[in-house]
Parts: sequence; structure tokens; C-alpha cells
Amino acid sequence: MDMKPLLEALGGGAGLVLSGVLVVVLVLIVWAFWQGRSVEFWPPRIGAQPGHPEAADDEAAPRESDPTSEALPVGARPDRVFDTRDALGFYQAIAPNYDQRNSVNLLATHMEVITRIEAIRAAKAGLRVLDLGGGTGQNVATYFFNDCNIRWTYVDFCPGMADQLQQHLAGRPLYNRLRVHVEDISRIHLRVAPKSHDVILLNLVLSSMPQLPDFARIATLLAPGGTLIISDINPLYTSAHPLYQARAGDGTQVAMRTHMVQPLEVVTRAREAGLQLSDMTQIGSADISYSFVAVFESAARQRRKAQVRKDEESSTW
Ligand SMILES: C[S@@+](CC[C@H](N)C(=O)[O-])C[C@H]1O[C@@H](n2cnc3c(N)ncnc32)[C@H](O)[C@@H]1O
Repeated sequence: MDMKPLLEALGGGAGLVLSGVLVVVLVLIVWAFWQGRSVEFWPPRIGAQPGHPEAADDEAAPRESDPTSEALPVGARPDRVFDTRDALGFYQAIAPNYDQRNSVNLLATHMEVITRIEAIRAAKAGLRVLDLGGGTGQNVATYFFNDCNIRWTYVDFCPGMADQLQQHLAGRPLYNRLRVHVEDISRIHLRVAPKSHDVILLNLVLSSMPQLPDFARIATLLAPGGTLIISDINPLYTSAHPLYQARAGDGTQVAMRTHMVQPLEVVTRAREAGLQLSDMTQIGSADISYSFVAVFESAARQRRKAQVRKDEESSTW
């Protein structure tokens, strides 16, 4: 760019004007860094302040280490960021692509949950599972596709996710014993009878809810001796990776700001609902583990297990 005509027009004041502009630019850069904003020199851009809604785009930049994120092209930002209050809209948008997520940790979490269900099934024929926020059913419900002894009650408020589940299981033995409720978890006690299920799953669901559901209500759906299995993202992991990114069915990039789930709060709420923690496992080997799986049992089941242990001990004497 030829600056000569401009300098000539400004005459003797050119140096003064240029110094003034330089000072303003420097002040802006210092102010931006002080506020924690990102600064890009070309093309010139100052990012939004962290925590401000507009900053979501900046925070949503792809993180290779985030297994809940689909690998995005470098520099890609989501076209839309959802809140957990609109989780239904988020999941409806991503339902066709939900199963394309490439996450080792997600699979490990599902495997841990499957192991727990299998252990319970081994001791109880005709197991009745209530899968709250069941998603596409991959990998947990689909693991039991050939099982003629399990009855599966599926609940999810997102029709797109329920469609995916039905496509996965249609024609398989489990499909004959599958009941699908496209319903909010907070209303499921109106559709499912009390004490009707041996296992209740809340598998990676709580972090998609604005607040924890009513555990006391959920506990009423457990049959005597039943088990509640909860898995969710480790809060430290959520804090490091607050945005769950995915590609929507229309090809746009979307994200949801997830809710941090504190395992201690989950344990407290479950205890208030009359359920005792029987086991908790962490998943993931990185510095910050990815998820936790917590198993809760009704007081009756804990009493029965204690009695069995006591009987075994006395028979060894
Ligand atoms: C992260 S996905 C987990 C799906 C599945 N459980 C899994 O482990 O892959 C969360 C699911 O919970 C559902 N969900 C979230 N809040 C819900 C609510 N209040 N009522 C019913 N379903 C809900 C979403 O639609 C979504 O399918």
C-alpha cells in the first residue's frame, strides 16, 4: 500500500497521528490480554471475554484430547451452542450422527455398565431394565439384542434418538420385549408402574440435564432388591471440556454446554432416596479420568447380600 499521499496530506503532523494510532492499538491489545481475550493480528480480531455467551465459539474450538468431540477441522467453531435446557433440541439435531462419535472412553464407560448388568442378570432370569435417557441404545441396549430373557423399557424425550434405537433393534429378539417411551424422565413415573424394574440406568444422562432428576421418584420404580446404575462425566473433565460437540444432521457443527455432575451430590441424593452406594469405578487412564460409574442398591438388596456373606462365613467354620 502506498502511504506517501496520506503522509503528504497530513504534512508535519503525520508522525504525531501515527504515534497516536500506535498507542491506541497498544492500549487495546493490553486491555484485551488483561481481560483474558484472544487476540489475532491478521486478520485483526479481539475475541470475546471468557464466560461471556459470545465466547462459546472460542471455547468450542476443537480439542483433540476430547473424546466426546467429533474431530473437527482445525479452527472450526460450532454454528450453534445449546444449553442443557434445550438438550432435546441438541439431541434431535445430532441424532442421525450420534453413533459416529469416536470415543474410546465412551465405549469403556458403556462396557463397565454392561458388565454390571450382566452380573445382575446372571443371578436373575427375566431381568427388567429401565433405561432412562437411553439415546440410540448403542452400545448398551444393543449388546443385549439377542437376549430372550431381558425386558427393556426405554425412555428418551428425543424422538430422533428413539428412532435410531428402533432402527438398531428392529427385527432382533430384544425388539419383542422393548417398550419405547418418548417422554421426559421427570414424567416417567406416570407411565411406568412402581416397583416394576430390576435395573434402572441413568447412563451419561445427568450431564445433559439442567438439574438432577427426582431420585426419590426414580427409586419408586425399582423392584425390591433392585439396582440403580449411574454413569457420568467426571466433573474435572467437564470443567476442562465443557462443550460437547457434534455434527448435526444438516451438516452444521453444534455443541452443548454440559452440566457438571458431582458424584458426591449424586450419592447424597440417592441415599436420601433410600439407595445405598455399593460400588463406584473411574474410567479413563489420563491425568483427569473421563467418567465414573456408580452402583446403588436398595436397602433390601444390601441386607440380603449381607446375610449371604454371613451365611458363607459361618459355613466355613
Ligand atoms: C449423552 S446421551 C446418552 C445416551 C445413552 N444413555 C448412552 O449412554 O449413550 C443423553 C440422552 O439423554 C436424553 N435426555 C436428556 N435429558 C432428558 C430428559 N429430561 N428426559 C428424557 N431424556 C433425556 C437425550 O435425549 C439423550 O438421548
